[in-house]
Amino acid sequence: MLTITTIEEIKKWRNDFQEKHPRKKIGFVPTMGFLHRGHLSLIQKAKETADIVVVSIFVNPIQFNDKKDFEAYPIDLQNDKALLSDLKVDILFAPSKDEIYGSGNPEIIIDYPSYTNVMCGKNRPGHFQGVLYIVHNLFQYVRPHSAVFGLKDYQQYLLIKKMTEELAFDIDIIAADLMREENGLALSSRNARLSKEGIEKALQISKALFLAKEVWENNKNTTAGEIKTILFEKMKNLEIEYASVYNSEILQEFNEEETFHRAVIAVAVYIENVRLIDNVILE
Ligand code: PAF
Repeated sequence: MLTITTIEEIKKWRNDFQEKHPRKKIGFVPTMGFLHRGHLSLIQKAKETADIVVVSIFVNPIQFNDKKDFEAYPIDLQNDKALLSDLKVDILFAPSKDEIYGSGNPEIIIDYPSYTNVMCGKNRPGHFQGVLYIVHNLFQYVRPHSAVFGLKDYQQYLLIKKMTEELAFDIDIIAADLMREENGLALSSRNARLSKEGIEKALQISKALFLAKEVWENNKNTTAGEIKTILFEKMKNLEIEYASVYNSEILQEFNEEETFHRAVIAVAVYIENVRLIDNVILE
């Protein structure tokens, strides 16, 4: 695996590679590192759909609306490199903060207010704008043919898909399923910050989501309000940021009395000051 740390080098690698292999497809998996099975499944998907895979590791400061959350974000580049080598990833792009933001934070804002003012965006001002900015620029540096994003961050996936279409990037955005532990807990780099008791508490999240999904599958006339009642009841010991039902295409929250056909039930909770998100898709 070749590790590249500068923008100039990754651009040069991209140009040289395409010149030598004009028919080969480049797959891209952007990450913030501290890789787990969830990331590895994204990489696996990229390998299945492209000839060569580039993974980036960059903890993007401008997408953290809470400085403490950024400072607490776990980093283990050594272990990440070993995992990526085992998976036979071809290129790792791991730039420093100075390499990306050396000339200061960007003033330009890429935003889709109707998509960013709900769910995670509502309480994390600037978060998705920071994500869109870095993904946009990584796309410019790597110029991949396809890029894989996990459905655990459903809102992020939809926003990136929208940005890619509207800014006319010729990049196929591929969705990868949310990965769970056997006990149902959604995989996340943040799980490493939870105590044993915290993990035990976190299991209430997937249990609540699975029950809500089952209730809807047994009765498609279940209203959004009834689903919310199940979620709040099942997660009553948790600090809930949001737990609701959204249109899975335009991310609009359903009113309490509405029934629905395609939806994403999404939640964000805090356990031991760690913010966890999870969702189930109904279709
Ligand atoms: O999902 C993530 O890990 C990050 O938001 C991403 C897409 C790598 C951008 O920093």
